[in-house]
Amino acid sequence: MKQKYFILLGVLLASSASKAQTFSDNFDSYKSGDNLAATSATWETWSSPNGGADDVKVSSAKAKSGSNSLCFQSTATNGGPIDLVLPFGGVKNTGTFSLKMAMNVDETNATLMTGSADLAAGKVAFGVNCVTCHKADGSGDVGPNLTDKNWIYGYDIKEVFATIKLGRPNGMPTHDALLNPIQIQQVASYVLSLKEVANGKPAQGDNIKK
Ligand code: HEC
Repeated sequence: MKQKYFILLGVLLASSASKAQTFSDNFDSYKSGDNLAATSATWETWSSPNGGADDVKVSSAKAKSGSNSLCFQSTATNGGPIDLVLPFGGVKNTGTFSLKMAMNVDETNATLMTGSADLAAGKVAFGVNCVTCHKADGSGDVGPNLTDKNWIYGYDIKEVFATIKLGRPNGMPTHDALLNPIQIQQVASYVLSLKEVANGKPAQGDNIKK
């Protein structure tokens, strides 16, 4: 499966709170279509020289701010070979490191999240936004049972993402303005992690989850 997402990156390096060093890059100073590490004085790849298969393309297709972003497009089923490096300029063995990035996720490229932190965040979003219609355990009320095998609009993560983001005609509201794309991916993944609840709302839909 090909995975693609776009990324805007900011890195904060803090050896102590008083000597915090920050670095951020929105990639606008590079040329769309160029390999980042090959044309940058800052970024590198693990392999040498830069510009090989593990380098990443600068893209003007989807930018969060300014004109550019990075397009990480893997060619291998398990991800990669893109492998970008931001050298710290020496050994850092104290302090904290934080990394922030904005990723472009939508119904064409959403992927199932399985990490416990993401599923826990999805559960919180479900409690806030979904339980009035789907019940706290997801077994269905006004909205369909989300724990059984039957799906009206499909059980692939991309289809569930689209259902939540865009809404569906018979009463499923859009959540585009309420949840950001990562939150939608988390709540969709949480829904798909639910185990079937006994005595839930009777099955609806002809797409049977395998
Ligand atoms: C106002 C009530 C309401 C709220 C709030 C609501 N839903 Fe729904 N949901 C529905 C209804 C009604 C449907 C069936 C829509 C249809 O058949 O067109 C539905 C359908 C769905 C489906 C498709 C199920 C299938 O069988 O394909 C999913 C997935 C879903 N909702 C998830 C969620 C999630 C996650 C949230 C919260 C982020 C949420 N819903 C919030 C009422 C709601």
